[in-house]
Amino acid sequence: MRRPRAVLAVLTALAALACDPDYVVHHVGWFATMRHQRSVKPYSQPARPPVPGTVPVTGAEPDSLPAAAAERLVNPRTRTAESLNRGKWVYATYCLVCHGEAGKGDGPISATVGGPFPGIRDLTDAVARGRSDGYLFGMIINAAAMGRIVMPRYGDKIHGTDRWDLVNYVRQLQQQAVGGTR
Ligand code: HEC
Repeated sequence: MRRPRAVLAVLTALAALACDPDYVVHHVGWFATMRHQRSVKPYSQPARPPVPGTVPVTGAEPDSLPAAAAERLVNPRTRTAESLNRGKWVYATYCLVCHGEAGKGDGPISATVGGPFPGIRDLTDAVARGRSDGYLFGMIINAAAMGRIVMPRYGDKIHGTDRWDLVNYVRQLQQQAVGGTR
C-alpha cells in the first residue's frame, strides 16, 4: 500500500517540473537546448545603439538636409520609364492627397475646405519648375529642415531610389503642365 503512493508522489512532482521540458532539461549539461542561448531574446531589451565612435558603412541615407546641402545634390537616377512609373506610384501614395493628380495643388484634401487648401503649393508653376532636383529631394525628405513649414516630412517613409524616382515624376508633371510630352 505505501509503495504505490510514494511512486505516485514522485511521478506527480516530475510531471509538474516537466510542464515545459525546456526549463528542466537545460539544467542538465548534455541537453543544452536552442532556446537557452546567449542571443538577445525578442522584446527582451530596447534596440542597441551603435557603439560610440563607429559610423555605418552601408545603407545610411539622410533624413533631412538644409537647403544649401540639398541644392548641391546631383540626381543619380536617369528618367527612364521604370523610374517614372515608380515615381508615379510613390506620388500617388504620399503626395497626391495634397498636391493633386497633376501637381496643381488641388488634391482631394481641398474638398474638405471647399476650395484650394491654404498653403499647398502648385508643383508645376514657374517657381517650382525653377527649383533644382536637389531642392525637390530636400523638400521630400524634410521640408522643415529646408526652412519651409507646413509640409510633413517623408524621409522616414520614402527611401533609397524611390526619392529620386519621385523627383523625376514631379519633373514629368511639370513638363506635362507646360505642354511637353515627357
Ligand atoms: C499634407 C499635405 C502635403 C502633402 C501630403 C505633401 N505636401 Fe508638398 N507641400 C505642402 C505644403 C503646405 C507646401 C508649402 C510648404 C511651405 O511653403 O512651407 C508644400 C510644398 C512642396 C514643395 C515646394 C514647392 C516650391 O515651389 O518650393 C514641393 C516640391 C513639394 N511640396 C513636393 C511634395 C511631394 C513630392 C510630396 C509627396 C512626398 C508632397 N509634397 C506631399 C503640403 C503637402
